[in-house]
Amino acid sequence: MAWSPESWRSKPILQLPTYPDTEALAAVENRLRTHPPLVFAGEARNLMSNLAQVSEGKAFLLQGGDCAESFAEFHADNIRDTLRVLLQMAVVLTFGGAVPVVKVGRIAGQFAKPRSDDFETRGDVSLPSYRGDNINGIEFTPEARIPDPARLMEGYGQSAATLNLLRAFTSGGYADLHNVNRWMLGFIDKSPAGEQFRGLAQRVSEALDFMRACGITPESVPQLRATDFYTSHEALFLGYEQALTRVDSTSGDWYDTSAHMVWIGDRTRQLDGAHVEFCRGIKNPLGFKCGPSITNDGLARLCETLNPDNLPGRITLICRFGADKVEETLPRLIRVIKREGFKVVWSCDPMHGNTVKSGTGYKTRPFDRILAETRAFFDVHRAEGTHAGGVHFEMTGQNVTECLGGAQEISEEDLEKRYHTHCDPRLNASQSIELAFLLAESIRAERMKDAGFSV
Ligand code: TRP
Ligand code: MN
Repeated sequence: MAWSPESWRSKPILQLPTYPDTEALAAVENRLRTHPPLVFAGEARNLMSNLAQVSEGKAFLLQGGDCAESFAEFHADNIRDTLRVLLQMAVVLTFGGAVPVVKVGRIAGQFAKPRSDDFETRGDVSLPSYRGDNINGIEFTPEARIPDPARLMEGYGQSAATLNLLRAFTSGGYADLHNVNRWMLGFIDKSPAGEQFRGLAQRVSEALDFMRACGITPESVPQLRATDFYTSHEALFLGYEQALTRVDSTSGDWYDTSAHMVWIGDRTRQLDGAHVEFCRGIKNPLGFKCGPSITNDGLARLCETLNPDNLPGRITLICRFGADKVEETLPRLIRVIKREGFKVVWSCDPMHGNTVKSGTGYKTRPFDRILAETRAFFDVHRAEGTHAGGVHFEMTGQNVTECLGGAQEISEEDLEKRYHTHCDPRLNASQSIELAFLLAESIRAERMKDAGFSV
């Protein structure tokens, strides 16, 4: 049962790329070990206590970002645009839902991707699958698909620079609530979601004016000016995660300093596997994805293994069932958690279970089904008397056409116009904000019910 940052290496592991030169890989991992941590243990502890609030029903988790970050799209504007939409969503939820929102990006490290097939075949050519920019290249050529350890260094560098900009934006004035009117993106401005957001921004501004008149200003109350923004990614490529795992000098505990929170994917959560082994020893808040295949016993044992002391905020269950499977799957899982007395955050990933192929051959997700899964998630929690704690989205600040529908009514024919994702289809800015308004309503309904009103 002894754990060390490398004890995962003796466990069975899935989704591991095959490097032609393992010495070169080890050399890169050694170099990474000498590089500074990207986040600090104290920050990860703060996130954990924020998530504990969520697990107790006193806050809401908003987690979102790219399916996969890429080297090609690394640009200050893209980082700003993603953050901006997350801030807009957060303000909609904080104001509309009247609840504190814990903001966690899938950003500054979300590179490695699990794949269902080791090979991708086009025509009569088969090549190793693309596994994320920190592993190999997306181009369909034999050279690009060879795992290259140098990419791990580039991923680290991009994560550091991204995090630096995020810290500047969230603490340097950009995220000041008084800027709420300025977070409008050009293209959002003209969409129905933009219209709705303008209305809300107006009300927030009025509230701030009123508070200023009462003496509550960003100078006297710094919470108005800054926001805590955390990072997260899937802990998939464990060599990288291990290299950034360090002892925290204050507590003597191990933290994976590559992100504040990491999660385990639905395909790599085997109880005796390497990913669970690695994650059980780090003290960061953890998530794991729960697909329809998770068994009651499997869920209970994962919670015990990853959180033996049952600390609130440690475990987030990221549920991704598919709109039509929520009602048959979620109640049984909720009952297991209740029966065992586990403290968890329930989060809804309405993206991954609702992926379909469009008539025109694109991997897409119908907005209606994303909404349906989110609604069903809230409904089941309301019926079970548990807190629908958060959401987990794949989204971008760009005006892409990757998910069908929404108020902009993106059609199958539209998909090819701006389909830019490196992996799964993402909500665009306007679809994200639209969803935030619907979430705010559901949160309100939950609060009304808790307060004893019938809804
Ligand atoms: N600090 C508060 C919070 O993070 C209020 C706040 C400041 C805020 N800037 C924000 C909320 C931007 C949402 C978005 O909740
Ligand atoms: Mn994805």
